[in-house]
Amino acid sequence: MKKAPFSHALVTGASSGIGEAVANKLGKAGVGMVLVARRKDRLDAIAARFPSVEVLVADLTTSSGLSAVLERLGSTSLPNIELVVNNAGFGTSGPFADADPERLSREISLNINALTRISHEAVRQMLPRGRGYLLNVSSIASFQPGPDLAVYAATKAFVTSLTESLHEELRGSGIRVTALCPGLTHTEFQSISNTSGLESNFPEFAWMSADDVARDGLRAVAAGKAICVPGLVNKSLATVSTFTPRGLARRIAGLATRLR
Ligand SMILES: NC(=O)c1ccc[n+]([C@@H]2O[C@H](COP(=O)([O-])OP(=O)(O)OC[C@H]3O[C@@H](n4cnc5c(N)ncnc54)[C@H](OP(=O)(O)O)[C@@H]3O)[C@@H](O)[C@H]2O)c1
Repeated sequence: MKKAPFSHALVTGASSGIGEAVANKLGKAGVGMVLVARRKDRLDAIAARFPSVEVLVADLTTSSGLSAVLERLGSTSLPNIELVVNNAGFGTSGPFADADPERLSREISLNINALTRISHEAVRQMLPRGRGYLLNVSSIASFQPGPDLAVYAATKAFVTSLTESLHEELRGSGIRVTALCPGLTHTEFQSISNTSGLESNFPEFAWMSADDVARDGLRAVAAGKAICVPGLVNKSLATVSTFTPRGLARRIAGLATRLR
């Protein structure tokens, strides 16, 4: 991105994948950053490449980790955060009944609770300033049910719904709120969420790089778009799923995820 409309950003899940790509783009554009994730070495490596980077090591599924991020957002002694990128997230694939219940709780805690609380604090801080940017990373999985990825799809449906609501609620406030809804993107997501089988199910043209997804997301939030679906294939899938009867969309989604 050339001239960024924000001078300081906070990015969650900045240690790999889409979040790392967002951090690299912001760093190159001269934006100061607070980078949040659990892996300190990864965050330190990014911080070493750019000036004005704070590393905030936090597990966002814990109350202490989440509080540290909320406190940083409210800090009056450090630079104001003008862009918040809620990117940290993961999925759990496989039959619902077989899933580890503790893992499902952590997934809901990260994808929904942490994102909601960080969005809430960001908006509270930005409202009196009359400006700000909030980019919430959702997924095209949010547009239809996701058999074999049921909890993940449900968490992302929450993210898209919350973000669209906030976009509308905050119209005229100076705060721009965008849901970034990527499709298949090469990151660590596949190994962590046990969806590596998708790599053989879907041709390479259906996949995007984290770099391209990050570029489209940052452009969209700067432009004040409500929803950004990056890439032609994903845009087509999102459009088809809007017009497909829900019962049929369910069946197709089930076939796509069970082909592994
Ligand atoms: N890749 C895809 O195909 C795809 C498609 C649609 C949407 N998305 C969404 O894109 C976002 C980024 O995922 P990605 O694909 O870039 O995957 P990724 O490479 O696995 O990155 C996930 C990031 O989240 C962080 N994270 C995970 N658990 C955390 C926790 N408890 N506390 C703090 N940070 C945590 C990870 O850092 P640490 O492990 O260092 O904590 C990492 O930086 C997610 O919300 C995902 O749902 C991905």
